[in-house]
Amino acid sequence: MAIIEVKNLVKTYKIIEKEEGLIGYFKNLVKPKYKEFTAVNNVNFSIEKGELVGYIGENGAGKSTTIKMLTGLLTPTSGNVIVNGIIPNQKRIENNKNIGAVFGQKTQLWWDLPVIESFRLIKKMYKIPENEYRKNLKKFTELLDLEELLEKQVKNLSLGQKMRCEIAATFLHDPKIVYLDEPTIGLDVFVKEKIRKFIKDINREKKTTVILTTHDLKDIEDVCDRIILLDKGQIIYDGEKQKFKDTYGRYVIAELIVNNIKDNIILNNAEILEQNDNKLKIKFSHDETTIVKIMDEISKFCNIEDIHMKEAELEDILKEIYKGVHTNVKNNDATSKNAI
Ligand SMILES: Nc1ncnc2c1ncn2[C@@H]1O[C@H](COP(=O)(O)OP(=O)(O)O)[C@@H](O)[C@H]1O
Ligand SMILES: [Mg+2]
Repeated sequence: MAIIEVKNLVKTYKIIEKEEGLIGYFKNLVKPKYKEFTAVNNVNFSIEKGELVGYIGENGAGKSTTIKMLTGLLTPTSGNVIVNGIIPNQKRIENNKNIGAVFGQKTQLWWDLPVIESFRLIKKMYKIPENEYRKNLKKFTELLDLEELLEKQVKNLSLGQKMRCEIAATFLHDPKIVYLDEPTIGLDVFVKEKIRKFIKDINREKKTTVILTTHDLKDIEDVCDRIILLDKGQIIYDGEKQKFKDTYGRYVIAELIVNNIKDNIILNNAEILEQNDNKLKIKFSHDETTIVKIMDEISKFCNIEDIHMKEAELEDILKEIYKGVHTNVKNNDATSKNAI
C-alpha cells in the first residue's frame, strides 16, 4: 500500500466578503459577511515509500494547505488523507512520530537554547535510542557542516545556519515521511546545495519519503524524480519530472557568438530572445525545425563563431504554462498519475 494516499481532498476557507467604501468597511467590522473559498479542490494522489516528490505551483495554488492537511495540522473539509495507515488529523501524536516537517521560516528549535540542547530535547520527545541519536548526529553534523553551530544559541544563527540545524532536527528521529514547505527560501546557493545533497543522501540511505515545495525550481531539478503540479487548488500534472520536461519542454535555447552582422536578422522558425553585435540568443522548437536549418538561416546574416545550446529547464516550461502557452496542461483534469 502507498505510504500517502489522498482521495478527493477538499479544503475551503471562510473568508470575509469585503464591501466597498467607508460604509462597507464599517459594515464589515460590525457584521462581517462570509463567503467560502476553495483552496484545495478535489486533489487525488498516492505516494510510495521512498519517493522524492516536488509539489509545485504558483503562489496561492494550495500547496501549503495540502501539506498542512497531510501533517494533520488542518482538518480537510472533505475527502480522505491516509498517511502510513492512519488519518493524520485524528491521530496527531501517532502521526507525528512518523513524520518530520519544515514550514518555511518557522522554527521547531528552542530560540534561547544552544542547538545541541534542542537536539537533546528532540531525542527525549521522540525517545530516540542513544546509539541512533549519536549516529545521526555525527552524520548530519558532517553533511550539513554543523560542528561550529551546535553550541550556539539558535537566536544568534544566520538564516542559512538556522535552516541547516532545522533540517537536521527534522530528520533526527528517522521519520518515514518528511514534508519540506519552502525550506530553501532566502538561502544562498551554497546552503541550498548542502540541503539538496542532504535530502538526496538520506533518501537514498533510509528510503525516507520526501515531499518538497519550493519556489526555487533548481531544488526540484536536483532533488525530485516526480512532480505534482497544482494550479488553483487542482492537480494539472502528476508524473515523472523527465516525462514532463520531454512533453512540454520541446524547445531549445541556443546562444550563438557571431560577427559581421550584415542585416536585420529575421528567422522563420525561431524566436530571437536577445541580440547584440556579437551575440544572438534564440529559441526554437524541435517540432518545427532543426539546429542545422537554423544555422543555415543565420549564416545568411552573419558569421557564426560558436554555439551553446541549453535544453528547457523546469522554470522556463512552467513560465510558459502559467502564461497559457501549453493550454492542454491547464485544461487537463489530471486526477490520476501520468494523466498526460
Ligand atoms: N487561513 C486561511 N484563511 C483564508 N484563506 C487562506 C488561509 N490560508 C490560505 N488561504 C488561501 O488559500 C489559498 C492557498 O494558499 P496556500 O495553500 O498557502 O498556497 P501556496 O502554499 O500554494 O502558496 C490562497 O489563496 C490563500 O490566500
Ligand atoms: Mg505555501
